[in-house]
Amino acid sequence: MARGTPQFICQSCGAVYNRWQGKCDACGAWNTLAQEASAPPVPVPGASRAGARSKGRVFPLEGLQGASLDAPRVASGIGELDRVTGGGFVPGSVILIGGDPGIGKSTLLTQASAVMARAGHRVAYISGEEAVAQVRLRAERLGLSDAAVELAAETNVEDIVATLSHGPTPRLAIIDSIQTMWTGSVEAAPGTVTQVRGSAQALIRFAKTTGTTVILVGHVTKDGQIAGPRVVEHMVDAVVSFEGDSGYHFRILRAVKNRFGPTDEIGVFEMTGRGLAEVANPSALFLAGRDLSAAGTAVFAGMEGTRPLLVEIQALVAPTSLGTPRRAVVGWDPSRLSMVLAVLEAHGGLKLGQHDVYLNVAGGLRITEPAADLAAAAALVSSLAGLPLPADCVYFGEIGLSGAIRPVAQTPARLKEAAKLGFNRTVAPPAVRNQDETAPLVVTTTGHIADLVARIAAQPRVEGNRPGLARR
Ligand code: TYD
Ligand code: MG
Repeated sequence: MARGTPQFICQSCGAVYNRWQGKCDACGAWNTLAQEASAPPVPVPGASRAGARSKGRVFPLEGLQGASLDAPRVASGIGELDRVTGGGFVPGSVILIGGDPGIGKSTLLTQASAVMARAGHRVAYISGEEAVAQVRLRAERLGLSDAAVELAAETNVEDIVATLSHGPTPRLAIIDSIQTMWTGSVEAAPGTVTQVRGSAQALIRFAKTTGTTVILVGHVTKDGQIAGPRVVEHMVDAVVSFEGDSGYHFRILRAVKNRFGPTDEIGVFEMTGRGLAEVANPSALFLAGRDLSAAGTAVFAGMEGTRPLLVEIQALVAPTSLGTPRRAVVGWDPSRLSMVLAVLEAHGGLKLGQHDVYLNVAGGLRITEPAADLAAAAALVSSLAGLPLPADCVYFGEIGLSGAIRPVAQTPARLKEAAKLGFNRTVAPPAVRNQDETAPLVVTTTGHIADLVARIAAQPRVEGNRPGLARR
């Protein structure tokens, strides 16, 4: 396509069309196409002008073995942040951090920049959303005003790159947020896909040429995607999402993509009156305030990366007044719930067709592990039967479609964490043994879902609970 000809770009996925249409064929979104001029390459200071050469330059090709062995890292000084990035910021890397508005992205990055600046690194914080006074006010509230962070409220990428290239190379540059940035080299309104992509490209090139770690803040749309082009996610080295329920104080930092580290680690923070505090022992936090005598709750011995994490899974199974019973789930995969319910009906002998089912992971955490199946099933059976599960018992194991309970990885770490938090018993997949002599954890293995249902039905009844299972 000739340069400068108008094109129509989907503002949700970045697909390009020659003419306008109501629906984007690529992502299925309606009315998201906007006219933009096609983007010429973004000029970067120091780079040779594209188009000035007709022939390519010959460059040397090299082997896999070389001098630069390990990516040197600069620890941010915030332990939970370093855990997620894989041990600190890699020089020249670009990190995109996404999250709902008001979740605490600016707070986290203000704290990180202040800690880095106090450690003697040059740190720049460029805010495109807030005025300098607002950022100062936040820093004051966090008690970080004395840190030598270089602050500016700017939105033009060329100006930012020129300013940051001046003087010693910054160790860390924070761009809050990428959606507010614009570059003069593309003709499109700020906030459009072309602008976001062009600005991100220029900032990424700045990071790669200077070795500065650049953190881009990205907004998240209603359905949880980082707003604007998904293409930015492909361009950066790491994508980190900052999650949490505004009703809770916990905030979870999760790596979605990481070229220099693991993607299954989470960082746990608590939002306090003085900013984000690291949570060193998340299990204790997620289990706080548990109702020990209630039916329908089970403690899941989970893993988040290399760290064990105990969380409470709550279920409510109640007779429905609707034609189609409701199934609602918070913090877990809805299709996983449907599967567990189907297995409970087919192989566990439960009748759930006339019941609404609600499942909730306490504390606003989101669980992705299949190992949570057994704990979810135990909570569901407990709620249906009106029989509380033992308060000192944890559950983990994957449920297959045949009703078989399958082993999961990292069993010793799960058992150890449960013992550490004062649990005495666990219901686990077959062949699990407690090899730790010092932790007195009684392991009950169960190989089939029917066995689990029978075990829970044999629990002592508590007054006032619904006799759900007994009626069958
Ligand atoms: P902010 O970092 O501005 O969110 P984002 O940049 O992701 O939009 O955080 C805003 C929220 O955090 C706001 O609702 C107030 C709360 N907050 C605290 O509870 N304590 C604090 O010390 C600070 C600075 C903010
Ligand atoms: Mg912000």
